[in-house]
Amino acid sequence: MSILVAGGAGYIGSVTVERLSRAGHKVVVYDNLSRGHREAVPNQVTFVQGDIADSATLEKALREHKVDAVMHFCAHSQVGESVKEPFMYYQNNVQNGINLLGAMLRCDVKQFIFSSTAAVFGEPDAIPITEETAQHPTNPYGRTKWMFEQILRDCSDAHGLRSISLRYFNACGATELCGEDHTPETHLIPIVLDVAAGKRESLGIFGRDYPTQDGTCIRDYVHVSDLADAHIKALEALGKGAATNIYNLGNGQGFSVLEVVQAAEEVTSRKIPCINSPRRAGDPARLVASSDRIREELHWNPQIADLRRIIETAWKWKLEHPNGYGSAPAAAKDRFAS
Ligand SMILES: NC(=O)c1ccc[n+]([C@@H]2O[C@H](COP(=O)([O-])OP(=O)(O)OC[C@H]3O[C@@H](n4cnc5c(N)ncnc54)[C@H](O)[C@@H]3O)[C@@H](O)[C@H]2O)c1
Repeated sequence: MSILVAGGAGYIGSVTVERLSRAGHKVVVYDNLSRGHREAVPNQVTFVQGDIADSATLEKALREHKVDAVMHFCAHSQVGESVKEPFMYYQNNVQNGINLLGAMLRCDVKQFIFSSTAAVFGEPDAIPITEETAQHPTNPYGRTKWMFEQILRDCSDAHGLRSISLRYFNACGATELCGEDHTPETHLIPIVLDVAAGKRESLGIFGRDYPTQDGTCIRDYVHVSDLADAHIKALEALGKGAATNIYNLGNGQGFSVLEVVQAAEEVTSRKIPCINSPRRAGDPARLVASSDRIREELHWNPQIADLRRIIETAWKWKLEHPNGYGSAPAAAKDRFAS
């Protein structure tokens, strides 16, 4: 199939591009590089530098490459920034997303996979979180993703554009070629590894008084290559006529901040100094997914569920890319197709 990967120069998108290409699909990466990296896209993959707000460039890419399905990773995705700049979030994550759907409909492309998030749930009443758990997002970022899920349902009913929304919990880890390089970095594992690498002095732990076994927050970490596999499964399901649907994507196990620190110390054999800070507003004690639905319906089965193994992949990538993609060896991009 011919797949347009919007946001394919970003963290999760680039790993999915890797998987799609290996599975034999024709891939077009469409990215404005606002938060992604040209180096994350292998030379063998068609790259269009464009914004999803730009209908003409989008339609040209969709028609020229005879695209069958779109994977939509583009978004602004920092919770704190979304609170300070809500319009920017509604514009990129909702308005520009609608623009992408409009371009698809005009080009008769009607299969869509959407990067949603655990942030649609806010502070859930019960754990594990299922697809039916009530959704009360507590920040503009979560609200943009929740709104877009509703838009996709309406778009499916009205226009027959079938979609699968994948609600990722905490994406983490790396492949041989692609890893996490966000600026600023807000995710726990890369921050912890920056401390191990001597690029940060210490890790701030926000809250030591949660009702968890060690007092720190518990989150569900899902390896980025398992997320990419879920996209392939979703694509296959849509290809067989699956109806519009939503799935949670998590590891099913929660790890506390201190467990992540301890595992990272073991993997890196380095000490990770921590500083205790007050709780952050809106940080729930525990967020752990039930991914039973995608396991049962799409036969998704995460391969890298062990926390140490997850951290090992991220650490290896960090050692090979001490300055992120800025330090990627030029040859890395060409190793890809073999
Ligand atoms: N990383 C996580 O843990 C996580 C968790 C839940 C959901 N998500 C969602 O998954 C998706 C991918 O996350 P990520 O961590 O890979 O993010 P990322 O920032 O690394 O990648 C997003 C990519 O989209 C591009 N982009 C953004 N706006 C664009 C626009 N208007 N036009 C064209 N390109 C644009 C950026 O340049 C970037 O390459 C996002 O939608 C995010 O909300 C991520």
